[in-house]
Amino acid sequence: MSINLKKIKQLSLCIILQGGLLLNNRSTAQTVQSKGLKDYYKDYFPIGVAVSPQSLKDPQQAALILSQFNSLTPENAMKMGPIHPEENRYYWKDADSIVAFAQAHGLRVRGHNLCWHEQTPDWLFKGADGKQVTKEVLLKRLKDHITAVISRYKGKIYAWDVVNEAIDDDNSKFLRNSLWYQICGEDFIVKAFEYAHEADPNAVLFYNDYNTERPEKRERVYQLLKKLVDAKVPINGVGLQAHWSIYEPDQKDLIETIKRFSSLGIKVQITELDISIYPWEKNKRSLRPGESDAYTADLEKKQADKYAEVFKVFRDYKNVISGVTFWNISDKHTWLDEYPVIGRKNYPLLFDQNFQPKKAYWQVVNF
Ligand code: G3I
Repeated sequence: MSINLKKIKQLSLCIILQGGLLLNNRSTAQTVQSKGLKDYYKDYFPIGVAVSPQSLKDPQQAALILSQFNSLTPENAMKMGPIHPEENRYYWKDADSIVAFAQAHGLRVRGHNLCWHEQTPDWLFKGADGKQVTKEVLLKRLKDHITAVISRYKGKIYAWDVVNEAIDDDNSKFLRNSLWYQICGEDFIVKAFEYAHEADPNAVLFYNDYNTERPEKRERVYQLLKKLVDAKVPINGVGLQAHWSIYEPDQKDLIETIKRFSSLGIKVQITELDISIYPWEKNKRSLRPGESDAYTADLEKKQADKYAEVFKVFRDYKNVISGVTFWNISDKHTWLDEYPVIGRKNYPLLFDQNFQPKKAYWQVVNF
């Protein structure tokens, strides 16, 4: 066996390199562990994440949450259906577990949400006779619900999404034709904020919606917010859900939305951030035969660039943006795996399916 010095040199070089990379990853991992998003943005705004009780029970996810985030939003546990399944019965267990985790670790909590057209309990809009309830009955039920839920977490939840997604998707319309609207007209929105403020005068109260960067939706949301502010309804802020993609919004539209809404003197928060690698589709469907859901290097770069772009805007407007929350923790579990294409894997967050930081993460923290 002839000793090939050149080969040995090459071999040792790559061992050194590997060692270096490993060291680098280990130290980077340590860096991630020791310094998280919340630390990189401590001079800007809190960084939050939407969670389920299950994710808090998983040691790996719990550790990642504590190292990266300083605010929690219950993904589903505090919605009317899950927390108030029967008129005379509340299911507090899941919501309590999220608030207890936050209390134990000094994390803020955003309550989500008190009045929405989805995930409502079956009893809400119907009377004992099965007929649709009157406006008076529905507003009483809304008041009882808001009072019960806010009072239970008073002083432990600093902000609430009081009304969620009340603007119609159709640009020619104003308010969504939900059962809330059909039974109560516009009053349910005003009343919801008044009931919430009465239950906790210190809570920061938000109107929350999506596609708020699209000019036609932005103007209708602005119209609603201005009406509420002018009528001295106790609204304190607007939540931009930010279910975005590598295709939208562009920087101009995002900045215009932040400026337009904050011009009303209310706070702005990013409440449900994720950046899909696919274009937006309104209607649900199944994956088509041969349709790819691969996470290519090109898509990862486009996503990292989009995350860098929007976080630059967030930093530039830190005086009006009072919080940024991600909708889910990592690509391991995201609602975008089931919507709008059932069974199409999406990769919308900063941590991959092994809870490791992605290229986008480093673009967000290296500024
Ligand atoms: O809890 C039931 C479970 O008992 C049942 O076995 C299972 C099977 O159907 O469903 C479970 O409920 C699901 C629930 O999530 C909890 O996992 C509902 O079907 C499912 O529709 C619900 O999806 C949630 C969706 O809101 C409902 O519209 C998503 O997790 C949640 O991420 C999503 O979040 C919304 C925000 O609240 C508002 N903005 C948009 C955002 C994305 O749609």
